[in-house]
Amino acid sequence: MALSILASCRDDRLPEGDGRTRALAAGRRIYEKKCASCHAMTGDGKTVSASRFPYANLVDGKWRSDGTAGSIEQQIRKGHDPMPKFEGKLTDQEIRDTAAYVLELSRRRAR
Ligand code: HEC
Repeated sequence: MALSILASCRDDRLPEGDGRTRALAAGRRIYEKKCASCHAMTGDGKTVSASRFPYANLVDGKWRSDGTAGSIEQQIRKGHDPMPKFEGKLTDQEIRDTAAYVLELSRRRAR
């Protein structure tokens, strides 16, 4: 009996919507603190430090990579001159959340 009760208590995942809202909120906080100085709040990259680099624009639909969450995470992890790497400065979870927020920024812009 006790066993079957335990088994039914398995970690229920949050519904998709709530998890996504939480990830985007966390990603946004990180983005505004660590990324917006170069990429601007809007993501268009029109800042003194980054505007010379076309790929600093994160909302024009053009990517150095294939523009998937995975390659955006990779850019955050490894950096790409002159962008610093964030590996070791952000946790894996934080990197995933920030990548999700970057994609959301670019999608909103596309509308
Ligand atoms: C010191 C300025 C600077 C900071 C801070 C910075 N970036 Fe960048 N980032 C750049 C520049 C410049 C580029 C374009 C260079 C390149 O990769 O060709 C770039 C490129 C990128 C790209 C690749 C875009 C593409 O077109 O494929 C992504 C994604 C990105 N940054 C995300 C982030 C995120 C997320 C953060 C915060 C965690 C961040 N950056 C912090 C300067 C910065």
